[in-house]
Amino acid sequence: MKPAPKLGGRVAIVTGTSPNIGGGIAEGLAAEGAIVVAVDSIAANAHDCADYIAKNGGQALGLVCDVTDEAQVEVTIGAVLRTFGRVDILVNNAAFFNKKGVLDMSYAEFDKQSGVILGGAFLFTKHAARAMMGRSGAAPGGVVINIISTAGHQGEPGNIAYSTAKAGLLNFTRSAAMELVGHGIRVNSLTPTATDPSESFERARRWGRAVEKPPGIDKVMRPFREGIPMKKLPVPSDYGRAVAFLASDDAAMITGTDLRVDAGAVARYWAWDPKAGATV
Ligand SMILES: NC(=O)c1ccc[n+]([C@@H]2O[C@H](COP(=O)([O-])OP(=O)(O)OC[C@H]3O[C@@H](n4cnc5c(N)ncnc54)[C@H](O)[C@@H]3O)[C@@H](O)[C@H]2O)c1
Repeated sequence: MKPAPKLGGRVAIVTGTSPNIGGGIAEGLAAEGAIVVAVDSIAANAHDCADYIAKNGGQALGLVCDVTDEAQVEVTIGAVLRTFGRVDILVNNAAFFNKKGVLDMSYAEFDKQSGVILGGAFLFTKHAARAMMGRSGAAPGGVVINIISTAGHQGEPGNIAYSTAKAGLLNFTRSAAMELVGHGIRVNSLTPTATDPSESFERARRWGRAVEKPPGIDKVMRPFREGIPMKKLPVPSDYGRAVAFLASDDAAMITGTDLRVDAGAVARYWAWDPKAGATV
């Protein structure tokens, strides 16, 4: 017997839908029957993601929005409500990378990067949660999932704004979970880690883009692959399936928690090198 999709007809907003992790999450939610709203400040990332899902039997809408602009966030949530009548799931995934340390990063750069990671999650949670609470004709409720990083759990040097903001997002998750629990809204987070890039190139090609895997990328990824306990890096569709679980009724009693999909990265004892064998 084929199991019923876990998210049939539910409306899911995903921010930051590049062909990498956001695209993998959007496709994972669509595979479970969700209607996907792909939100990105880069129009091609919003539209290519939504178009691919729509052309492959799903329902989707691409919307251009800067997650740090409250007026744009309100317009985006309004467009989702006008089009689909409800918001059930929000995945705060938008971020950007700017590897600089406490000694060399300007305050403007620190502010901008943490503004996207933390401020964007704050603004989308605020307005999506209001939409989830204000529903008529159906029980209020919904699910928010924030995308962290193993850098938010550990002290990574030279990545100060990113790792600090991701750690902040972990406690934003817990605090928002407590604030919204009385409204039937569950708030959890998911922690990805260094991600095998091959799937994102394959997804970009499926979305109609002409991309080639850069030569040398396997060499760049080798230390990550060899240092991780499972000796294999996750791919975005691994995160997509885990997000679909957290968004589904299978996780109905889970709120305020973090699900690490990190091949054991954070659990690893600091002095143990997986390359060296079974013990320190
Ligand atoms: N790639 C990794 O190895 C890795 C590891 C751990 C965690 N993560 C997390 O996973 C998430 C996705 O990462 P990715 O590798 O797919 O990154 P990516 O750069 O491929 O995608 C991020 C997307 O966010 C969008 N974005 C950035 N700023 C925005 C803004 N102000 N408003 C709207 N959209 C905006 C970008 O346009 C892009 O499409 C991020 O939260 C990242 O921190 C990534």
